Amino acid sequence: MEPVFWHQVWQQGQLGFQLAQAHPMLCAQLSCLPVGGQVFVPLCGKSPDLHSLAQQYQVIGAELSQIACRDFFAEAQILASQNDAGTFTLWQGGQYQLWQGDFFELPSAAVEGCQVIYDRAALIALPAEMRQRYVQKLRSLFPKATLLLISLEYPEHEKQGPPFSVATEEIYRLFDFARVELCGLRNLTGQGFARRKFDTTSLLEKSWLIHW
Ligand SMILES: C[S@@+](CC[C@H](N)C(=O)[O-])C[C@H]1O[C@@H](n2cnc3c(N)ncnc32)[C@H](O)[C@@H]1O
Repeated sequence: MEPVFWHQVWQQGQLGFQLAQAHPMLCAQLSCLPVGGQVFVPLCGKSPDLHSLAQQYQVIGAELSQIACRDFFAEAQILASQNDAGTFTLWQGGQYQLWQGDFFELPSAAVEGCQVIYDRAALIALPAEMRQRYVQKLRSLFPKATLLLISLEYPEHEKQGPPFSVATEEIYRLFDFARVELCGLRNLTGQGFARRKFDTTSLLEKSWLIHW
């Protein structure tokens, strides 16, 4: 999806993806991640997951929307500074640094020393042709990393994305340079994805630990 799509989502408050509380798969896997230091959250929105991650990390996020960054700090009642950083605005407050701008242009310096990544609703927010670019960008930013990824699978022809269905085979293909381990599965068939109800005949969420 192009930036204009996401800016419109935030302007119109169409936040069907927004969780009310931290994702259960993050809570289940947090103890499996390397402890301490920094975690990077691409396409972070204003997710409550950021607060769970802050229990054990300094959190670095990348997010396109100024509204998302502003609301994240306002809702958490954290006073944040805003500074120009090239094509980005860097929001900083508490344990959080949010790089507001296009993830695909994020400079390596933003995540220097960081080796942990958390992706919920980032890869699956992107159409197929952008997913390859997304993984290449992660790889270029992180020579070495542990990624906790939450993916979604449903019969593709039954619904238009986002969120997009990303099949298991695609996960292995995208991360063919890494060690990929399936660590959790939730059957959400007949239920919703965050605030949205889907009528797909199957809906599976999977969590993956991916090391390179
Ligand atoms: C489906 S939402 C998920 C947000 C968050 N990960 C969550 O779980 O609530 C996708 C987010 O990615 C942001 N986004 C989309 N394209 C982006 C880009 N190129 N750079 C940075 N953020 C982007 C959107 O503004 C939106 O907040």
